[in-house]
Amino acid sequence: MKAFIVDRYKGKLRFGDMPDPEIRDHDVLVQIYAAGVNPLDSKIRDGEFKLILPYRLPLILGNELAGVVIRVGSRVRRFKPGDEVYARPDKNRIGTFAEFIAVSEDDLAIKPKSLTMEEAASIPLVGLAAWQALIEKAKLKKGQKVLIQAGSGGVGTFAIQLAKHVGAIVATTTSTANIDLVRRLGADSVIDYKKDSFEEILRDCDVVLNSLDGETLKKSLRVLKPGGKLISISGPPDPEFARYLGLSRIFEMVMRLLSFRIRRQAKRHQVHYSFLFMRASGDQLRQIGSLIETGAIRPVLDRVFPFELTKEAMAYVETGRVKGKVVITIK
Ligand SMILES: NC(=O)c1ccc[n+]([C@@H]2O[C@H](COP(=O)([O-])OP(=O)(O)OC[C@H]3O[C@@H](n4cnc5c(N)ncnc54)[C@H](OP(=O)(O)O)[C@@H]3O)[C@@H](O)[C@H]2O)c1
Repeated sequence: MKAFIVDRYKGKLRFGDMPDPEIRDHDVLVQIYAAGVNPLDSKIRDGEFKLILPYRLPLILGNELAGVVIRVGSRVRRFKPGDEVYARPDKNRIGTFAEFIAVSEDDLAIKPKSLTMEEAASIPLVGLAAWQALIEKAKLKKGQKVLIQAGSGGVGTFAIQLAKHVGAIVATTTSTANIDLVRRLGADSVIDYKKDSFEEILRDCDVVLNSLDGETLKKSLRVLKPGGKLISISGPPDPEFARYLGLSRIFEMVMRLLSFRIRRQAKRHQVHYSFLFMRASGDQLRQIGSLIETGAIRPVLDRVFPFELTKEAMAYVETGRVKGKVVITIK
């Protein structure tokens, strides 16, 4: 099958042939119709995750998909050939910039019927990240105040809609050109970071979802009320994350050191800091799918590229200016 392949970290992505995937008893073989492109793909290509996610090279890149079930393993109960599905495959079994992939049935869900393949492929990674941050970790409730950094990005566009669905009061940051977009998604207050500083405007937030740099993370502490939760998906990783990955005590120590400062500052502000690296979950994708079917959440697509232009799609994501998501069409 055709695929985009990493032969060595920091090298050029190669468009070439790879063997068709083999399926285990609990796996589903999916023909990929569309794949979402994320900043994570470039980070993996450049080896930024090689210590915590030790992939064997050559590696097929790509972290989310929509497609059609071709074949199922002997123990698969929930899917059959012909089903339209979407997924974020497990972090150890990525590879959606390809024609086919084997995915565990636990990580797969039926694609929302109202979405095209391209729209569905834009959802899993950012949808699960927002869900696990706001619903699982923060336990966001009706009437609570949440700040979602970078509301116009992939995670932000989904997180605003999810927080509004829960009944939260949503503040977000973006630049002048994207103010209308985030308002249409439901943001109650919008801070134009080109003109204003969010930390001077906002107060008493229950939750902040950070996806930006360390400076923004630090400033985010100032807008939280005592007891509030600061959740970062862009680092630094905390010791709990090392334990979740099952890493050695040395890695746990490294992550303790990396997050020492922000955890100490958080303690001083009487708020709780945690890092999140989203995980695959077919169950959560089913719940997200129901919200999409009721119209509570809709995908936001910036650009769709043909499969051959995957490298260009990644370069576009790397500009950091994407509004919503970028997707490649494979079939
Ligand atoms: N840990 C996890 O599980 C996880 C999951 C998903 C993503 N992530 C990480 O989270 C980060 C964001 O991901 P993403 O997919 O949302 O990225 P993205 O879609 O590429 O983000 C682009 C958006 O960020 C906005 N932006 C850039 N600088 C900003 C600033 N200073 N203030 C406010 N908005 C700003 C841009 O708006 P303007 O053009 O208006 O500036 C643009 O719309 C990445 O680092 C990614 O790797 C982590």
